[in-house]
Amino acid sequence: MYRFFRPFLFRLDPEAAHQLTLQALRFAGSFPLSEWFLTQFYRAPSKPVHAFGLTFKNPVGLAAGYDKDAAAVRGLSTLGFGHVEVGTVTPRPQSGNPRPRVFRLPEDEAVINRMGFPSKGADFVASRLQRLNVAALKHDNIVLGVNLGRNQDTPNEAAAIDYLQLLQCFAPFVDYLAINISSPNTVGLRSLQGRAALGGLLKQLHVQRKVEETSLGKHIPLLVKLAPDLLEAEIEDALDVILSTRMDGIIVTNTTLAREGLKSKHRGESGGLSGSPLRARSEAVLHQIVKRVDEKIPIVSVGGIMTPEDATRRLELGATLIQLYTGLIYRGPSLVKKILEGQ
Ligand code: FNR
Repeated sequence: MYRFFRPFLFRLDPEAAHQLTLQALRFAGSFPLSEWFLTQFYRAPSKPVHAFGLTFKNPVGLAAGYDKDAAAVRGLSTLGFGHVEVGTVTPRPQSGNPRPRVFRLPEDEAVINRMGFPSKGADFVASRLQRLNVAALKHDNIVLGVNLGRNQDTPNEAAAIDYLQLLQCFAPFVDYLAINISSPNTVGLRSLQGRAALGGLLKQLHVQRKVEETSLGKHIPLLVKLAPDLLEAEIEDALDVILSTRMDGIIVTNTTLAREGLKSKHRGESGGLSGSPLRARSEAVLHQIVKRVDEKIPIVSVGGIMTPEDATRRLELGATLIQLYTGLIYRGPSLVKKILEGQ
């Protein structure tokens, strides 16, 4: 089906094509008949995975950034994913960077984006999740995550306040929360991955998480999403902190600032690079983290998974779950089913 739509979508501006797809999925998810049709079409073999105290019907999830404001969770859940990560959501609404801010690099099977967390804000997204039929998601066994980020105009010194507010806001509606400190498009955000800053932030989040858990009577897994551009020693530092502050999991990786070997005309655009050129770096970081974490907590691998073979390799390298984004743009949603049929 996607082979038919892709040439049309690729003639549109990437962000416009994305909005169109998202709206179509939102629409499809609002009618039982279209929802049923998509579910039948994209039905994938069940491969249950247990992680963070949750059961995922399969290891393949939708990465953050695709549905930033939880516009199409129902529709997306019909495409065969075991989990959907909404966001990044910021506490207050913000418009992000000026357009154009997303670029396709077809010769490289890649995307560069500098969106800068456009978000309708925590209250808006939380009210959408509240209205969402969570019982229906549970029935389909879709695990729902929300990815959290600070506002652009919040300095790093006050970032904990943003993340704490987001944690309190979303804890009631989600299965897990992802702490995003690795987007390259919010100035200074990545310095929160440093040992001292990360320690300060995660300690406070862990304390607040315990408070929410007591009042809600459920476990709220916290995952930390890391960048692919950290040096080995920086990754070691971050892992020490993540393990000592009792985080539940790690998502690796976000987009990269590296630009080696690109051919497409947009290769000089600033922002985070995703897709095929990220594959090798993302695998290398996964390998280092798996070795160091030694099965203490599960790892979610994301970055350059474009084929079923890529997915198999990540799982063989020790990832418990995987996530897709740019692969969906180039290969379409049937990639999920193809991955699961190949396992
Ligand atoms: C992203 N990504 C992302 N990640 C995140 O944590 N919060 C976000 O808001 C976004 N936004 C976003 C927008 C766009 C247009 C892209 C392409 C990507 C990063 C994404 O979740 C993932 O980590 C990377 O894209 C690497 O995976 P792929 O795309 O190579 O499969």
